[in-house]
Amino acid sequence: MKQSNGSFDAYLIEGNPGAVQSRFTRLNVQQLDAGEVLVSVRYASVNYKDALAATGQGPIIRRFPCVGGIDAVGVVETSGSPRFRPGDRVIVHSHGFGVSHHGGYAGYARVPADWVNAIPPGLSELETITIGVAGYTAALAIDLLELNGASPARGKVLVNGATGGVASIAIDILSQRGYDVVAVTSKADQSSYLKELGAAEVISARELPPATRPLEKSQWAFAIDSLGGEPLAALTRTMHKDGVIASIGNAAGMELNTSVMPFILRGLRLIGVNSDNDHGLRERIWRRLDTDLRPRHLARIARVEPFESLPQVMQDVLAGRRTGRAVIAVRP
Ligand SMILES: NC(=O)c1ccc[n+]([C@@H]2O[C@H](COP(=O)([O-])OP(=O)(O)OC[C@H]3O[C@@H](n4cnc5c(N)ncnc54)[C@H](OP(=O)(O)O)[C@@H]3O)[C@@H](O)[C@H]2O)c1
Repeated sequence: MKQSNGSFDAYLIEGNPGAVQSRFTRLNVQQLDAGEVLVSVRYASVNYKDALAATGQGPIIRRFPCVGGIDAVGVVETSGSPRFRPGDRVIVHSHGFGVSHHGGYAGYARVPADWVNAIPPGLSELETITIGVAGYTAALAIDLLELNGASPARGKVLVNGATGGVASIAIDILSQRGYDVVAVTSKADQSSYLKELGAAEVISARELPPATRPLEKSQWAFAIDSLGGEPLAALTRTMHKDGVIASIGNAAGMELNTSVMPFILRGLRLIGVNSDNDHGLRERIWRRLDTDLRPRHLARIARVEPFESLPQVMQDVLAGRRTGRAVIAVRP
């Protein structure tokens, strides 16, 4: 990976917002962005956002050229921050990482200390990247749902985009906390995968009845939404009184066409979930991911791929051909 001249492999996103090209290249540490912590990267992952960024299918990249990869796990090489020492096992994610600051698809990453967390003692490097920014966001959503009154006794929780990274980990965590989880997926053949993660029920997205009136029959107490667009609009119309939806993603669209009726007649709460958090909150959520929110099925959720397969994995993510978390072994 790092040769005697100090260079290492990297996957660089170049061009401009209207014409994006991505390619493998060689970089050296001097070409990395500024930051207190230099990390020798072991694993990165492919999130939906990474695939959009590298293929130019969404306006994700805010500074060209940019090494892609919005999360990475590795070992601290050097640190100008008292929080970290050489040899510490760490995860880096969110803020500008892989978007406006060189990201995780490279042998080394140099970042501000606030973007770095120590890997909790009970998690391996592979388990930590399997959780990654997706699992962190799922845990944050569950934390926020419970701060807003969620409990297993109050009814079913719907998780859509169910075979995706965020949703797979959300299903795993929710089911081990005793929730009755209904997984909604477009992949009819993945029912056994979702049940292994703990879903009590699996529904095909195509079989969900249309929900177009301002208020439809109420079915769900809570929901974790990775999709936005029409699926989220339908959810707002079908939640129980005092239901809570955690809005995480936009895999089906950015728009939200609904009415105020669920909010004013059923007391619906729509809470936004954003993984760009201050260091204190990140520490708290990562501690919970190693304790009471620890996923149990990470080995089932992870699919580890070699670095050179990155472009193909991205195509598969965009085409909805994968399940769980695509882990990239940057340093074999
Ligand atoms: N707010 C934050 O801070 C934050 C953090 C992480 C991720 N996100 C967002 O959360 C969403 C999910 O991320 P992820 O990493 O879990 O992605 P992912 O692994 O690619 O999963 C997305 C899932 O959504 C479903 N899906 C994909 N395209 C769809 C479409 N056009 N229409 C309907 N369903 C579709 C598929 O599930 P099924 O085939 O099972 O239906 C797919 O597996 C993305 O929008 C991502 O940008 C936000």
